[in-house]
Amino acid sequence: MSLIDLAAVSYAYARGRNVLDGIDLRIEAGRNLGIVGESGSGKTTILRLLLGLAQPTSGQISFRDEPLDLRNRRFMRGFRRSVQAVFQDPYSSLDPRQKVADIVAEPLRSLKVDTDIEGAVARALASVDLPLDTASRYPHEFSGGQRQRIAIARAIVSQPELVLADEVVSALDLTTRIRIVDLLKTLSENTTLVLVSHDIGFVTLLCQDLIILERGRIVEQGPARDILSAPKHPYTRRLLDSTPRLPDFA
Ligand SMILES: Nc1ncnc2c1ncn2[C@@H]1O[C@H](COP(=O)(O)OP(=O)(O)OP(=O)(O)O)[C@@H](O)[C@H]1O
Ligand SMILES: [Mg+2]
Repeated sequence: MSLIDLAAVSYAYARGRNVLDGIDLRIEAGRNLGIVGESGSGKTTILRLLLGLAQPTSGQISFRDEPLDLRNRRFMRGFRRSVQAVFQDPYSSLDPRQKVADIVAEPLRSLKVDTDIEGAVARALASVDLPLDTASRYPHEFSGGQRQRIAIARAIVSQPELVLADEVVSALDLTTRIRIVDLLKTLSENTTLVLVSHDIGFVTLLCQDLIILERGRIVEQGPARDILSAPKHPYTRRLLDSTPRLPDFA
């Protein structure tokens, strides 16, 4: 089943040139997708479009085969509950004045989800392996890796079908990275992931499918296994050469 489709999507920031150009992309339930490319290639911009935070300059985005209509509130509420995100910097992405319980509960409150909020927060914290007393504390009391777990708990509290993650491990040390990869692997048993990274090695630990972005265009697209074993584009080969070691395939 296709969750999100992009058809001939281009995007330009105000009065600028296209930073995304003719993107065709299908995100299927149960197949994690990695988006890889150098700095400035357009990875975060694609995520903003996938999250409904920006509208394509041309082309079409659909969610479950229906056009994504940012003005249709009912449709967008369902969409936002189904598609959540985790961002790069675990220090700036959590509001320092809010207790963890309120940070994690935020999607449920803002989406007016009719549920036992306290129970849902407790389950989300448990699934990222944080103790329940985390809920009554503040973000500054936690390490980078723990903060990223809190951000992941917030992303999964509404039981989304799709979680988008933008460079979620790049600010973390190696040991913490490995733990977060393990956690994401467990989560992906129930949720489809889209992982954005400049590090092709990281995404292939978790993703079945890959796209390679170069200056706003997809230069290579397909099963991660095929791309890693026989990269067709010189840019992909360059990215692979800058990866220290090849990981196991997802
Ligand atoms: N708010 C903005 N206004 C104008 N141009 C922008 C804006 N945000 C990004 N861009 C430009 O769009 C292009 C793609 O940026 P984007 O942030 O999507 O790249 P990225 O692949 O996520 O890079 P990085 O790996 O450094 O995070 C870049 O040329 C960037 O300068
Ligand atoms: Mg980025």
